[in-house]
Amino acid sequence: MKNTVKITDGITWVGASDRRLALFENIFPLTDGVAYNAYIVRGEKIALLDTADSSVVHQYLENVESELDGREPDYLIINHMEPDHCSLVADLMARWPKMQAVGTAKVPTLIKQFFGADISDRFTAVTDGDSLDLGGRTLHFVTTPMVHWPEVMVTYDDRTKTLFSADAFGSFGAHHGGIFDVDHFKNPAFEGEARRYYTNIVGKYGPQVLAALKKASALDIEYICPLHGPVWHDKISWTLEKHAAWASYTPETRGALVVYGSMYGNTASVAARVAREIAEKSGCEVKLMDASGTDKSYLVSEAFRLSHIVFAAPTYNMGLYPPVREFIDDLEALWVRGRTAAVIENGSWSPASGKIMREKIAALKDFTLLEPTLTIRGASVDESAINAFCDAVAASLGA
Ligand SMILES: Cc1cc2nc3c(=O)[nH]c(=O)nc-3n(C[C@H](O)[C@H](O)[C@H](O)COP(=O)(O)O)c2cc1C
Ligand SMILES: [Fe+2]
Ligand SMILES: [Fe+2]
Repeated sequence: MKNTVKITDGITWVGASDRRLALFENIFPLTDGVAYNAYIVRGEKIALLDTADSSVVHQYLENVESELDGREPDYLIINHMEPDHCSLVADLMARWPKMQAVGTAKVPTLIKQFFGADISDRFTAVTDGDSLDLGGRTLHFVTTPMVHWPEVMVTYDDRTKTLFSADAFGSFGAHHGGIFDVDHFKNPAFEGEARRYYTNIVGKYGPQVLAALKKASALDIEYICPLHGPVWHDKISWTLEKHAAWASYTPETRGALVVYGSMYGNTASVAARVAREIAEKSGCEVKLMDASGTDKSYLVSEAFRLSHIVFAAPTYNMGLYPPVREFIDDLEALWVRGRTAAVIENGSWSPASGKIMREKIAALKDFTLLEPTLTIRGASVDESAINAFCDAVAASLGA
């Protein structure tokens, strides 16, 4: 069944949602699917902006065909060559033999690698400052390398002030009653899912995102049309502000994330007590999360949001309990920086997890590491040590 949405003058959404996918990139759990957005822009000529994931091929083609109403697109604009958007590029080039493809110079090599197809005689490489006259409107191209692949560009339609932003400004989550930001904000989980998408998928490339935001700030923007998540219109300032914070690794909220690992519940129990006491002493938000039971993408998302992180973990075979180790490794891989951290260790005969955590945290960029380390021995820990630890974290939070 065709399911297209008019966005604004001459621009139609022709994407589709996948509600069956369990893991995005086969890593990140999806609780509410994901949308693969694509768009048709009509001047005297017709441009199709990006294809879609192979899982939604039928819906995508039905939408595109219904919108074209028998015409052939003149151009396929390829903003991003990741397979969740480019799966149909070679097929569509064969289907519409007069259609020309447009993208950055790296695109033909990637097409050859993925599809074995040579489209170079029907491909125009564009870069910053280049444009394409569709007749009645002009598309302008802006490269955004490493947001989050090297070939990525964004496309700007000057007639409607619409920015087609590739994966930038995307989110997890399928479309429900509507494709616009105001529709998605009706879902209380939306904000968290937008953050989880950015921080895990694009989070490593903060400096490149800031560069892209700077380029975008020169444009007058009324619509942002990403390849995932809602089309931004009423809430553009919200997403721009959030992306400025996320890309610069600036905490959104003064508060503490307490992440613990625990086999038998003793570290968990101390972490819960500490979380409550820090909240009470500081008056700040404290979020308590189990590194074993919670997918890392949620921990990462909260680490971007909050200013402080308390790590609590047992010593495990003279090393660091793996779920907490993996979380710290994720923070390092995503270049998370500038947080204040404190450490709780547990060990029954020779506690070592505190020292290991401190070394790993010291290697993270611009982290401030608080004293003291709180040491638990099995289930034993001094009340005075808990108090001193919580006082130190609360003081750092500004109590
Ligand atoms: C598989 C395993 C390995 C452990 N290795 C160490 C160790 O190397 N050094 C140590 O002091 N304690 C070690 N311990 C003891 C734990 O740190 C202790 O059981 C602690 O209470 C675990 O915290 P939990 O109760 O929150 O699970 C180990 C425990 C287990 C189950
Ligand atoms: Fe991508
Ligand atoms: Fe994508």
